[in-house]
Amino acid sequence: MNTQPFKTAIALFGATGDLSSRKLLPSMFHLFQEGSLKDNFVIIAVGRRDFSDEDFREMAEESISSNKKLENLDGLGSFLQHVFYVQVDIAESSTYKILKDRFEELEAQFDTAGNRLFYLAMPPQYFTVITDNLRESGVTDTQGSKRLIIEKPFGRDYDSALALNNEITNTFDEHEIYRIDHYLGKEMVQNIEVIRFSNSMFEPLWNNHYISNIQITSSESLGVLDRGEYYERSGAVRDMFQNHLLQIVSLLGMEPPISLNSDDIRDEKIKVLKSLRRVGEKDVKRHFVRGQYDEGLVDGEAVPKYRDEENVADDSNTPTFIASRLFIDNFRWAGVPFYVRTGKRMKEKETKIVVEFKEVPKNLYYQAEEDDVLAKNLLVIRIQPDESITLHLNVKDYAGEKDTKEIKLSYTVAKQDLSRTVDAYENLIYDCLNGDSTNFTHQEELMNAWAFVDPVNKVWENSPAAFPNYQSGSSGPVKSTLLVSRDGFKWWDV
Ligand code: BG6
Repeated sequence: MNTQPFKTAIALFGATGDLSSRKLLPSMFHLFQEGSLKDNFVIIAVGRRDFSDEDFREMAEESISSNKKLENLDGLGSFLQHVFYVQVDIAESSTYKILKDRFEELEAQFDTAGNRLFYLAMPPQYFTVITDNLRESGVTDTQGSKRLIIEKPFGRDYDSALALNNEITNTFDEHEIYRIDHYLGKEMVQNIEVIRFSNSMFEPLWNNHYISNIQITSSESLGVLDRGEYYERSGAVRDMFQNHLLQIVSLLGMEPPISLNSDDIRDEKIKVLKSLRRVGEKDVKRHFVRGQYDEGLVDGEAVPKYRDEENVADDSNTPTFIASRLFIDNFRWAGVPFYVRTGKRMKEKETKIVVEFKEVPKNLYYQAEEDDVLAKNLLVIRIQPDESITLHLNVKDYAGEKDTKEIKLSYTVAKQDLSRTVDAYENLIYDCLNGDSTNFTHQEELMNAWAFVDPVNKVWENSPAAFPNYQSGSSGPVKSTLLVSRDGFKWWDV
């Protein structure tokens, strides 16, 4: 917990939208409850609608009180006294004067030291209009710090991401830009570094001498819900793979940083993304599998196929599933495949990492019995829904007939620890207020991730697939199984 509450004024663009109501306002309220925000902060909600402060406060109150992760609503009345609303037409530069005046008036009233945070919970087409207008109307001229939080997607390929960044950096320097990847706010994702670098037993084994392959699965049972329009433009590659999953790959693959300083950590992550073996267009088929969900049963309920979802084309070629086989071409990882998959409408909601270790150099057991083998040593890091770490080992089978049996050493994060924050967003907003950009995507990470996925998108967008090719409620297309089995491995269902 922060002992010094932050002094800050937050302009929340898209304040009446879904993200603000489900995640951002509850997270900010919880930061208030636990003392990180106290007397010297204001939230200026920015929106198109003609609302008064009171109208918006009512809306915020409703969003916050319907959040199930909050244990109580103590202090909600006082929190709302720090919340204000301004009506701005974001495309109209003259209206930004209202925001500037409001900042100045409220900063004086709440003594926020001129620190301004601009949170754009907005579709990406508005990013540069807003940052340009903020600069031109002088809203970003402040005595304190100025910071920008933006939500993905940051561009839709390498070129557009570069252009976007060039525009934004006219107003904000790289160190002032906080690109949200909410997976980096998840406790268990942050735990990857701790597990690796605070235990002496993993690091010596964390390489191609002892690890045979690493698997990352992020499956969702939900479909695209009401986001068909967005999803049609994005698909699984841009929605999950290019950002959340490649971030996890870089945390698993990075070298130990020289310190926990944000730049030191991000330097190491960037190196991993740079070392990803680029897959040329002709090799996409060998390394990537795409899928789109058909109708089926999820949790016992019949669900429609992707092409029947709202705002989705009848002949949509958008992948809702991707499986891939990646290689990090450096000394540590040469030859170790990283299998990464994500999909919507799969059998369950789950994000996990499985590190599979190589077999012992000589198996002294089961030499005669062909069917019996030693269990594989696995390290399973479960990110959600439960958060746990499990190590699969072999021990003597005292009671049974075999020589050995598999056991699992497991640690599950305790419930009281889980409820410390309302959401990954709370961690990230806290970090940004604290000026800590470790858990945000650096421009170079972004560009390397796009450079890696661009050929895949290009090939897939130019060749219609035989969709749908997996049933809702399944584990994805058959070809995804083959991608792994061809190398002599299997997706671990653990
Ligand atoms: C978002 C994607 O970034 O992540 C969504 O846009 C996806 O499509 C979501 O459902 C998954 O996040 P989580 O935290 O529920 O795993």
